[in-house]
Amino acid sequence: MPRIGTVYLVGAGPGSVDLLTLRAYRLLRSADVVVHDRLVTDEVLALAREDAPRLDVGKAPGRPCLPQEAINALLVRLAREGRMVVRLKGGDPFIFGRGGEEAATLAEARVPFEVVPGVTAALACAAQARIPLTLRSVARAVTLAAGHTADGEIDLDFDALARRGTTLAIYMGAATLPRLRAGLLAHGMPHDTPAALIERGGTPRQRVLHGTLHSVTEDAPDWVTEGPVLAVIGEVVAVARESAGAGVEAMKAEY
Ligand SMILES: C[S@@+](CC[C@H](N)C(=O)[O-])C[C@H]1O[C@@H](n2cnc3c(N)ncnc32)[C@H](O)[C@@H]1O
Repeated sequence: MPRIGTVYLVGAGPGSVDLLTLRAYRLLRSADVVVHDRLVTDEVLALAREDAPRLDVGKAPGRPCLPQEAINALLVRLAREGRMVVRLKGGDPFIFGRGGEEAATLAEARVPFEVVPGVTAALACAAQARIPLTLRSVARAVTLAAGHTADGEIDLDFDALARRGTTLAIYMGAATLPRLRAGLLAHGMPHDTPAALIERGGTPRQRVLHGTLHSVTEDAPDWVTEGPVLAVIGEVVAVARESAGAGVEAMKAEY
């Protein structure tokens, strides 16, 4: 029986190679096999060893992803075959990445594993759009929220999200913005709260749409191309706009 391998749950960051951690880079260079999601870019995958198989288990338009149980079983099987496995996920594996489920499976199966953090979309998008997620006297809290759950439902505590002084970074919310807006407005958030949509943040093809909670919700269907898209909602967006001044205009023109 071969010696059991190790599984590394690795965050690939938003897509640009130079936003990978050095640890992720080193592991990728030596992995026997790479199991990756759709959000991982070709540029990052190209760093893997030439002879290492790249197994795409992600969802693509018109093609469902492998069920999570099948991915879990695949990771366990590859490790039991003695392979060094890099399980590569967009952003950070523990932020809306199902890394927790995979870690639990590996622990239960007594497969050695490590978790390597990555730059999550909220941080990459905010940095490139020059939006400080927290800012003294403007936002003392930041909430990362999922715009919908696996079954398409929205299960959020809107009362907490609508509170002043909080910045919201909404993942997977482009299609549910009208319902999110309704929930926030019903709990007291003003409709003119500054907001931005950021598409493909942290990559050279980033696009940013500035506006208000109301306007970005109205504009999203025409504005979004292939995604992925993150929404940032809160006063910090306006502060960023003002302090960047002409810079924001230049950014809009550029992208
Ligand atoms: C399943 S979640 C994965 C999040 C990932 N684990 C992370 O930490 O960034 C996918 C969602 O993340 C957001 N996202 C991921 N990468 C992004 C990017 N480069 N630009 C904008 N949003 C992104 C989008 O909201 C997308 O629908």
